[in-house]
Order: sequence, then structure tokens, then C-alpha cells
Amino acid sequence: MAGLLEGHIAAVTGGGSGIGQGICQAYAREGARVVVLDVNLDGAHETVGLIKAAGGKASAVRLDVTDRQACRDIAATIARDGNISILVNNAGINRRNPITGDAAAVAKDWEDILSINLDGVFNVTHAFLDQLRATRGRIVNIGSIQSFVHVSWPNSAAYTTSKHGVLGFTRALAAELGKDGVRVNAIGPGLIETRINAEARAKNPDMVANVMRHTPLNRAGKPEDIAGPAVFLASDMSSYVTGCIIMADGGFRTV
Ligand SMILES: NC(=O)c1ccc[n+]([C@@H]2O[C@H](COP(=O)([O-])OP(=O)(O)OC[C@H]3O[C@@H](n4cnc5c(N)ncnc54)[C@H](O)[C@@H]3O)[C@@H](O)[C@H]2O)c1
Repeated sequence: MAGLLEGHIAAVTGGGSGIGQGICQAYAREGARVVVLDVNLDGAHETVGLIKAAGGKASAVRLDVTDRQACRDIAATIARDGNISILVNNAGINRRNPITGDAAAVAKDWEDILSINLDGVFNVTHAFLDQLRATRGRIVNIGSIQSFVHVSWPNSAAYTTSKHGVLGFTRALAAELGKDGVRVNAIGPGLIETRINAEARAKNPDMVANVMRHTPLNRAGKPEDIAGPAVFLASDMSSYVTGCIIMADGGFRTV
């Protein structure tokens, strides 16, 4: 049986670890050729190795999403082998420091988080826009529970702001690009066990317990839990879906 993404070329930022790696593997399993973009080239190579070992097609490219010119250059290079039809904006970082903390540290968190999590999404999307319009493509942005605010979820102003921005960008682009046949959606993962939160989980079990008390499925997620919605949003299965955020959070936000 043909895969759901046969004939597609997918670019995935932050594809060298965690959720991005899981999405890359799932897309390759469904027949897409995957371009794994990551500032950590070793991680990107690891993902490519996993995909190739399973018989899929993938290549690794080092990209820092904060470097707007590099995004443009890499998009142009990739286009020589064919236009991408799927873009996943997944690269991201998180730091949870109170806004009332050390002023210099708070300002640095703000700059780093916004430049990767939000400006990075703009930089990459804009660089691939012509390709996505030419292929009537699909954009999948990785938002968060923190695309919304909930008192029992551990917060941080910079990260929350960045993920609200990702949701706003998703909706604005869906409205603007629908006429070109480009669909733009987001996924809102709950607590997913990856490197981004490994230290927080280890140092702060109360945080995890607090989140789980509000999570009907009563477990943290794995990258595979995000891969399914990501395949759905990239495939023709979601041909009439745009401008939405699919929460993959064990029910945290729903109940
Ligand atoms: N893990 C969770 O609980 C969770 C929940 C909600 C949302 N998210 C979001 O999911 C996405 C993936 O996170 P993850 O949990 O897999 O974390 P992760 O740390 O395992 O992976 C993040 C990847 O992004 C890459 N990256 C970081 N800065 C980059 C840059 N400037 N340019 C290119 N690549 C860069 C890293 O090298 C890494 O490979 C992020 O946007 C994160 O905010 C994660």
C-alpha cells in the first residue's frame, strides 16, 4: 500500500532530536523524502541514519533558524532537487525563569527564545514560501499548551509569548495562503519526554505530578504521540483543515 506522503518532499526544522526526529521518521515511513534541518548537525545525521536504516529517504543539513540569509540560501539549494511540499516548523528552546529574576538573564531568555521559537518560524517559512505555493503545500507549526495559558501549567513569559505567536502566525497564514491552496496548521503538544525538558523533569518531579493531575490520559507523551497528528496535517487526510491547532496533550486542555 502506498504511504500517505508518497511523492512529497518534507523539510523539518529541529529534526535532529525529540519531536522533530519522531516526525521525520514518520514522514519517511509514509513515503516522503525528508530534509532534516538542525543547528546540531550530529543530531540531523542521527535522524537520517535512523530513516535510512528503515529503508527511507533523507538528507541532513545544518541550519540555524535565526539566520535569515542562511534560511534563504538553504531553501534555494534544496529547490535544485525539487520543491518541498511540506514544512514543519519544529525547532525550539525553552527556559523557565521568572520574569522577576535577574534582569540580564530575563532579557537574554526573551531574546533567545523569541528569536528561535518565533522569528525562526518566520525566517524558514518565508524562505520556503515560493516552493510551498508552487506545490500547494502544507505547513505544520509546533505550538504548545503554552499557545494558551493555564494556571496549573508551569509558565514562562518568553516561551508562552513565542508559542502564542506561533498560533497567531498559523492562523494569519492560513487566512492569507488558502487561496493558493497552502494549508497551515499547528500542533499543541502537552508534556512530551524529550531533551528540552529532561532537566526540568529530573529536578522538579512536582511539576510533572501537577501536570499529570490535570491530564486525563495520566502519562507524559512521547515523540511518536506527535507524529500521528503531524502525518495527518501533512497528508490529504486533512485536505479541508486549515488554521487549526490540534492539541496532542493527553486531554490537558480539553477538560
Ligand atoms: N517536549 C515538550 O514537552 C514540548 C511541548 C510543547 C511544545 N514543544 C515544542 O516542540 C518542539 C521540539 O521540541 P523537543 O521537545 O523535541 O525538544 P528537543 O530539544 O529534543 O529538540 C529541539 C531541536 O531543535 C533544535 N534547535 C534548537 N535551536 C535551533 C536553531 N536555532 N536552529 C535550528 N534548530 C534548532 C535542537 O538542536 C533540537 O534538535 C519545540 O518547538 C518545542 O517548543 C515541546
